[in-house]
Amino acid sequence: MAQVELKGVNKSFGNVKVIRDVALQIDDGEFVVFVGPSGCGKSTLLRLIAGLENLTSGEISIADRPVMDLPPSKRGIAMVFQSYALYPHMTVFHNMAFSLDLQGISKAEIHNRVEAAAKILQMEHLLDRRPAALSGGQRQRVAIGRAIVRNPDVFLFDEPLSNLDAALRHDTRVEISKLHNQLGATTIYVTHDQVEAMTLADKIVVLKDGEVMQVGAPMELFNYPANEFVAGFLGSPKMNFFDGVLTGGAGSNTGKFKGEGLTANGVRLVGDGKTEGAAIRLGIRPQHLVIDPDGQLQGTATLVENLGTETVVELVTESDVSFRFASPESLDITRGQTVSFSFDESNAHLF
Ligand SMILES: Nc1ncnc2c1ncn2[C@@H]1O[C@H](COP(=O)(O)OP(=O)(O)O)[C@@H](O)[C@H]1O
Ligand SMILES: [Mg+2]
Repeated sequence: MAQVELKGVNKSFGNVKVIRDVALQIDDGEFVVFVGPSGCGKSTLLRLIAGLENLTSGEISIADRPVMDLPPSKRGIAMVFQSYALYPHMTVFHNMAFSLDLQGISKAEIHNRVEAAAKILQMEHLLDRRPAALSGGQRQRVAIGRAIVRNPDVFLFDEPLSNLDAALRHDTRVEISKLHNQLGATTIYVTHDQVEAMTLADKIVVLKDGEVMQVGAPMELFNYPANEFVAGFLGSPKMNFFDGVLTGGAGSNTGKFKGEGLTANGVRLVGDGKTEGAAIRLGIRPQHLVIDPDGQLQGTATLVENLGTETVVELVTESDVSFRFASPESLDITRGQTVSFSFDESNAHLF
């Protein structure tokens, strides 16, 4: 097990900067998720830690040891990719044993490690099969098994569930979470999927354009997003935003808002340096709106989605601002209907 530390990490491809001054402390045994939209630099950052790319500048240590001059095989890491890249002509056993064979580990030890990994992944009965005779989920488990047998200090996962269908994605996600509880190894997991990030992580690192936007526990980021990007990225359906101006509270932790026919008082004010009269956006999560005939927010429903577990309604205000309402109950709202909402100011944010 090991901690991972990044200091002033930069990476450019040619003159395109893709990782900007990233500093991170990942604790021993922690499950950290790098999340952000496609192209924001998640894989590059993971590959820098793995040693598959060279740093442009900065330092990376694993278990208190600078690793910049070490090849991937000497860093104590094992990586699982989105594409399983199994050897089609080898059995599951030999796919899992392959890297250990290369390291010259004894046959008996290889046998023990593969058996142990297969047991953890509940695929002991599949060891003699070839990849072609496995389902997508089973293949991905072999890829994970291949990482487990190496006994790494740090597991690196790059979007390992992206090739699986929705049901299998959920099951495998649960398995990865159990696996981490069982092995307790430091894990860095890359995904563009905020649900995976929220459910798997001890700590989430939100990235945008190669820069860290916020680091923290899932609910901390959900409840106290440090900026509009994080607020909009985490949570489903996405947070609603309304344009307006700051009418009071500049320089304090809570502000007054006016805009789009709404007023709000004592709302969490995010970021410093906003003066009175400054353009500002009010953020309210769809789950935090409450149907209320006297509510100040009015919208006409343009789409009603009944998901069984939740109803999501898309609405548009008189001034053509779109927003969403989400409720765990099934609702008898129909398209074209006008609905009024209120909201608890303590659940809103000003960005
Ligand atoms: N080998 C490379 N050469 C040039 N550009 C690259 C290379 N690898 C990645 N990039 C660019 O770096 C940016 C970040 O890519 P990547 O780390 O793969 O993003 P993510 O994994 O978040 O989708 C993208 O703009 C991508 O096009
Ligand atoms: Mg990627």
